[in-house]
Amino acid sequence: MPVLRSSSLVRLPLVAAALLVTWIAPAAAQTPMRYAPADWDAGVRLAEAPDRNPDPHIVEVDITAKVAEVEVAPGKKARAWTYNGGVPGPLIRTKVGDRLIVHFTNELDAPTTIHWHGVRLNIEMDGVPGISQPEVKKGETFVYDFVVPDASLYWYHPHVMSNAQVGYGLYGALLVEDPADGVGVADTTTFVLSDIGFDSKGTLEDAESGGSAGMVFGREGAYVLVNGRTHPTIKARAGAPQRWRIVNAAKSRFFYLDLDGQQFTVIGQDGGLQEKPESKSILLITPGERYDVIVRPTGKPGTELTLRAMLYNRGYGSVEYRSVEDIMTVALTTEPPVKDAPLPALARTLAPPPLEGATPVSMVLTLPPQEAGHSEFRINGVPYWKAKPFQAKLGETQFWTVKNDTDWDHPYHLHGYFFMVVDEKGVPLAPRVWKDTVNIPMRTTTRLLVTFADRPGTWMIHCHILDHAEGGLMGTVHVGPGEPTEHAHPVPKKP
Ligand code: C2O
Ligand code: CU
Repeated sequence: MPVLRSSSLVRLPLVAAALLVTWIAPAAAQTPMRYAPADWDAGVRLAEAPDRNPDPHIVEVDITAKVAEVEVAPGKKARAWTYNGGVPGPLIRTKVGDRLIVHFTNELDAPTTIHWHGVRLNIEMDGVPGISQPEVKKGETFVYDFVVPDASLYWYHPHVMSNAQVGYGLYGALLVEDPADGVGVADTTTFVLSDIGFDSKGTLEDAESGGSAGMVFGREGAYVLVNGRTHPTIKARAGAPQRWRIVNAAKSRFFYLDLDGQQFTVIGQDGGLQEKPESKSILLITPGERYDVIVRPTGKPGTELTLRAMLYNRGYGSVEYRSVEDIMTVALTTEPPVKDAPLPALARTLAPPPLEGATPVSMVLTLPPQEAGHSEFRINGVPYWKAKPFQAKLGETQFWTVKNDTDWDHPYHLHGYFFMVVDEKGVPLAPRVWKDTVNIPMRTTTRLLVTFADRPGTWMIHCHILDHAEGGLMGTVHVGPGEPTEHAHPVPKKP
């Protein structure tokens, strides 16, 4: 019939057009413009863990914890604790949905584990001794094997004496890429920010230095590192976009970043892209947090910009007698500036956990006056070694009110689940974004919504100033049926 024929004639070009759109869009997205010279990030580029599995959806790597000499600046060498001989450890690069298998060997003289910070994995792979696995002792191995379900930047570090082991150099980045994220910035690199302390003989600073006061302040190493180097240089073409994926892996230091007053366009945080980009002229990254930002450094070709860590008051001792640190140089190439390089128009729909029916949970963080020269942080009146787990049913949404009644900031971290930070009415702060670590400034209250949708187990919550965590500011939430796993944690010895 003529009617049918004409309708099918009309339909065909539509189908063809739809196919064209589907095919052209990703292809265009895969070839964004490269502006910087090929060696632009050679001064910082992280070693990558070789993938020894030919399956395109499985990444299989070897990670060995061992002592090795690292050189953080010309002639400045330390006998650090490393993954695969480097500080930071190798970048593990995966794609969203991949299976990651890590053959871990411990060649240190101390027990350790690997915790995969931020990854929504099963409790057996969470790397917390006494809860999810035994400690990996000297000479032992453990195989971590899990799927990486969400695109973002994550990181890995031990969960045994974490203030010591992270401070000595044990951390690395785990990048979970989504080739279809639409960001379209070719010049992309990953920055692991940290610090380390050692003396002129290369001996690491004692993790207990300063005793109880050192614990309360949160110890910072004197060498500030970008991908294991002090004050490296990267290159940029003026005006051209670069995507920086940043993790703060320091055990205590906050990074409050300023690039000569230029803008950071934040596109994502801990749990991937945020609802919409947001511009900032100064960027705070507290321990454990990740930021995904686009910068377009401007200036006269051939000149240099400086990335600085500005002073940020996270409590007594963090600004007194301290100075701004120059942490990286951005050298503009001599090519003419790129004019009006577009920023990607990104938007992501993020549905918050349901407020309706959410169980209220209150947590108060305190630091009572010291007794017998000894201080301890507490959650709801108890330090970690006396704490009973918080409880959650599988599928339950909770509305946490976390009140910081101390004079120090606490970057609060929950294992295994993302949460959304909300106001006192439960309305998500804008722009919406998934977090696993949120800074709770001194003497303030932070609220969040979290759904314990799946994966029963006993999950840690703690301050990511790791001196604070080991000083008592840790707890657990037991999700699902069954008895919580008791975490045998040694009571810190009194100084
Ligand atoms: Cu980076 Cu218990 O975590
Ligand atoms: Cu803290």
